[in-house]
Amino acid sequence: MSVDVLLGLQWGDEGKGKVVDVLTPAYDVVARFQGGPNAGHTILFENKKFVLHTIPSGIFNPNCINLIGNGVIIDPYILEKEISTLGKSGVEVTKTLFVSRKAHLILPTHRLIDAASESSKGANKIGSTLKGIGPTYTDKTARIGLRVGDLSDHNFNEKYNTLKNKHLQTVSQLGFDYSNHLIDGYSFDAYEKLWFNALSTLLKLQFVDSEYFINDLLSEGKKVLAEGAQGSLLDIDFGSYPFVTSSNTTIAGVCSGLGIAPNKIGKVYGIFKAYCTRVGSGPFPTELDDSDGETMRKIGNEFGSTTGRPRRCGWLDLPALKYAIMLNGVTDLIMMKADVLDGFKTIKAATAYEYHGNQLGYLPFDAVAGMLKPIYSESSGWTCNITKLAENDGLPENLERYIQFIENEVKTPVTIVSTGPDRKQIVYR
Ligand code: GDP
Ligand code: IMO
Ligand code: MG
Repeated sequence: MSVDVLLGLQWGDEGKGKVVDVLTPAYDVVARFQGGPNAGHTILFENKKFVLHTIPSGIFNPNCINLIGNGVIIDPYILEKEISTLGKSGVEVTKTLFVSRKAHLILPTHRLIDAASESSKGANKIGSTLKGIGPTYTDKTARIGLRVGDLSDHNFNEKYNTLKNKHLQTVSQLGFDYSNHLIDGYSFDAYEKLWFNALSTLLKLQFVDSEYFINDLLSEGKKVLAEGAQGSLLDIDFGSYPFVTSSNTTIAGVCSGLGIAPNKIGKVYGIFKAYCTRVGSGPFPTELDDSDGETMRKIGNEFGSTTGRPRRCGWLDLPALKYAIMLNGVTDLIMMKADVLDGFKTIKAATAYEYHGNQLGYLPFDAVAGMLKPIYSESSGWTCNITKLAENDGLPENLERYIQFIENEVKTPVTIVSTGPDRKQIVYR
């Protein structure tokens, strides 16, 4: 059996959580392969809303195995909170949630370094979610990180203290005074205590050698869906560096983050919004500073699922979308939040950029310098409410036209259109 993959093609928050939840009944296993609690994946059904940070979005189906792969990084305190919130709504995770022994741990001091490093950058800050993502992946590649499997080591506390002391030196070198700094509302000492207490919840979960676990399931004929976090334009190699996250959010992350060989990959679902958003710093060629951007933010409720920050909004960027499709080998496109544009008389999409007086159809190396001026194509809006459409209903003519225009530009079919945040608001083409 092959592994299907679902990836965000923009700057994250495309609606991955919703679609994974919708697709889960067709899969036996849902697996996260990278990122950590910087992710916030929203799922809405029966008037209940959940935001998952570490747990895969297949968790609401009791028949589905959910795996946190080796490429993911885990903050035990945040994971414990997620488990407890789900538990209060009757969602029991201990039977279906599996955790890779090779997944790295986010330590409280990783979060301090994140804050220290952002504050030292001043106006050039990345706009990190401050969940300790960069510092934890840095330790992973520096070969000094602590992993889930290390929790069973009788020397764990000693290893923890060694790393903690090293981190505190870094924090001090960055000139960061953390005595008044709060982590999720707690002082460092209080957070560290909560972190240690949360280890008992983590230790109750089923730890696996996830590369064997997932390949064995595949050999048994089980169907696997790999759930991406963040988006392709935040990829450490291919995103708008340095305004990126610290993992491979693109297709390669599936192989390294789960131990799956490339020839096992089947469908690649690429998710994009009918417009664009970005939270945090970095270039955004089609960003709108006007009432259209404000309307997208308001109607689309574009505020970060993890940090609550307002998301920057703008028109769809087709050269960037093409780039993400190329990098990932997308087979099926899924268009999200088309309903947010219901009230727009004119819909724009950038087809190229003006760059040093020339027209450019791709993202140049120095895109970061903000030198790209979008060249737009305009189409007429559908100006009607699509949120009540049933899954096999046809789409309004102008929306269908807009989608066909996109398909023609990017040479990839749009097979699903999402028409609202609820599980049921979905139309198949
Ligand atoms: P993710 O990180 O990719 O899972 O996306 P987020 O959950 O961070 O952000 C997507 C937001 O849009 C959430 O608030 C969803 O409930 C919401 N959403 C998802 N799909 C749609 C849609 O088709 N229309 C509207 N209006 N909202 C949607
Ligand atoms: P999901 O999975 C949107 C952004 C941050 C910041 C940059 C680096 O919900 O789509 P980090 O905390 O990783 O050091 O932040 O990446 N970012 C996201 N933006 N959605 C996400 O995840 C994100 N995860 C990180 O805002 O600009
Ligand atoms: Mg999100």
